[in-house]
Amino acid sequence: MKYSESEIQSDLKQAMRVYPQGVTVVTTRTPEGPKGITVSSFTSVSLDPPLILVSIARSSALHDPLSKSTNFVVNFLADDQKSVSDRFAGRVDVKDKFEGLRSTMGVTGSPIIDGVRASIECEKWNVFPGGDHSIIVGRVLSVKTDGNKRPLVYFAQQYTTTELLEYPAPPSDMVW
Ligand SMILES: Cc1cc2nc3c(=O)[nH]c(=O)nc-3n(C[C@H](O)[C@H](O)[C@H](O)COP(=O)(O)O)c2cc1C
Repeated sequence: MKYSESEIQSDLKQAMRVYPQGVTVVTTRTPEGPKGITVSSFTSVSLDPPLILVSIARSSALHDPLSKSTNFVVNFLADDQKSVSDRFAGRVDVKDKFEGLRSTMGVTGSPIIDGVRASIECEKWNVFPGGDHSIIVGRVLSVKTDGNKRPLVYFAQQYTTTELLEYPAPPSDMVW
């Protein structure tokens, strides 16, 4: 039976919907002011040197500013920042996405949003083509975390957060 490209795309979308992902807002400074986009396709890449990546749709308004930027910040949203995610995903009709939102300048000059679970400040290291997305790799310059907050998670097209599963301590002779 033929498995068409559109069937693969549809199956991939369905599988990705049930893959829980943390929610970040990637921010940068542009000549027109600070900009940001909600991004879940974030991962760490390397420790030496310290590298992370985000994957940004070529069709996104933030694609070119981020690809051309010299630096950016990955803000990990906390579980009480659903409205921040919606705003930077273009789901809220605001002219300036930073309006009424508190943020501070990090070491790179890109904004760190107040109240986030963690922030990772980066200088752009490289940009790789990735189909209809671009893979933007950043070299990490500075990291801050707030251990008292729970992360915002996107799962099954809804926001949720983590619940820790507690297992009994493994037997002392267990070999991994
Ligand atoms: C939870 C969530 C995760 C997202 N992850 C990504 C992503 O990893 N890469 C991306 O390019 N767009 C991602 N998007 C979509 C962009 O946030 C959205 O298309 C973009 O911000 C549109 O904003 P605009 O219409 O104001 O330009 C995500 C949206 C949501 C709600």
